[in-house]
Amino acid sequence: MIGVLLLLLPFFLYIAAPQIRKMLSSGVCTSTVQLSGKVAVVTGANTGIGKETAKELAQRGARVYLACRDIQKGELVAKEIQTLTGNQQVLVRELDLANTKSIRAFANNFLAEEKHLHILINNAGVMMCPYSKTADGFEMHMGVNHLGSGVTTYSVHPGTVNSDLVRHSIFMKWMWWLFSFFIKTPKQGAQTSLYCAITEGLESLSGHHFSDCSVAWISAQARNATIARRLWDVSCDLLGIPMN
Ligand SMILES: NC(=O)c1ccc[n+]([C@@H]2O[C@H](COP(=O)([O-])OP(=O)(O)OC[C@H]3O[C@@H](n4cnc5c(N)ncnc54)[C@H](OP(=O)(O)O)[C@@H]3O)[C@@H](O)[C@H]2O)c1
Ligand SMILES: *[C@@H]1O[C@H](CO)[C@@H](O)[C@H](O)[C@H]1NC(C)=O
Repeated sequence: MIGVLLLLLPFFLYIAAPQIRKMLSSGVCTSTVQLSGKVAVVTGANTGIGKETAKELAQRGARVYLACRDIQKGELVAKEIQTLTGNQQVLVRELDLANTKSIRAFANNFLAEEKHLHILINNAGVMMCPYSKTADGFEMHMGVNHLGSGVTTYSVHPGTVNSDLVRHSIFMKWMWWLFSFFIKTPKQGAQTSLYCAITEGLESLSGHHFSDCSVAWISAQARNATIARRLWDVSCDLLGIPMN
């Protein structure tokens, strides 16, 4: 009996996959806001969630800067988004978050080019990469995900998304492949960032953590103001930014 059930399980999962994926992918950005005249920066926009986010912002008429460490990959994606959306204002600028020189150069160039930045999507990130250090000697995850991206505005969890993020772990790649029927597509993964960036009237929730397009629970440590202050101070200290 159990043997029969086990045999049927993969078949059942296969049939139920669309429903299961839907359940795990709740949270859609339903805003109809148009963004012409707005300026957006999306880091790590050459693939995965960042690419889908940039595409949607361009679709809505924003001028979108793809901030990528690999200009060539960025240009290919910019062309693709221009063709798809008809929005020519999709621009590529070099940004390597593993190098504070590159970050400062990016910021200076941006300030020289633009008066306003309306939307900043700190999307670029790494996961489970082998131990290595950034140009400034920080451990790679700490350097890119935390110090490089800065400690800003909203934080979002995109869900479990099928992307290149797991590129450094064969086990995770295998897991992602195994569950690829159920996990979010990059487009679904982009919904919460888009929701936070463009939905009107969310200002009072600034600083909250979001998941599936709604405010999400965070641990006591993450809510502790003393710990937050300490992390801020340590981060400023590491980056040589005067504390305030
Ligand atoms: N996928 C998930 O299930 C999941 C879950 C939780 C959180 N997230 C977060 O969502 C964000 C996007 O992830 P994703 O799934 O779309 O991953 P992804 O496909 O691996 O994309 C990551 C992007 O970040 C860029 N990047 C990495 N290091 C960089 C650096 N030093 N400087 C500039 N850009 C850099 C990558 O550029 P290259 O192509 O040049 O390497 C790529 O464009 C990440 O912050 C990730 O931590 C994802
Ligand atoms: C915050 O963290 C500090 C240091 O770990 C701890 O002493 C304090 O009790 C915590 N405060 C709250 C409100 O949890």
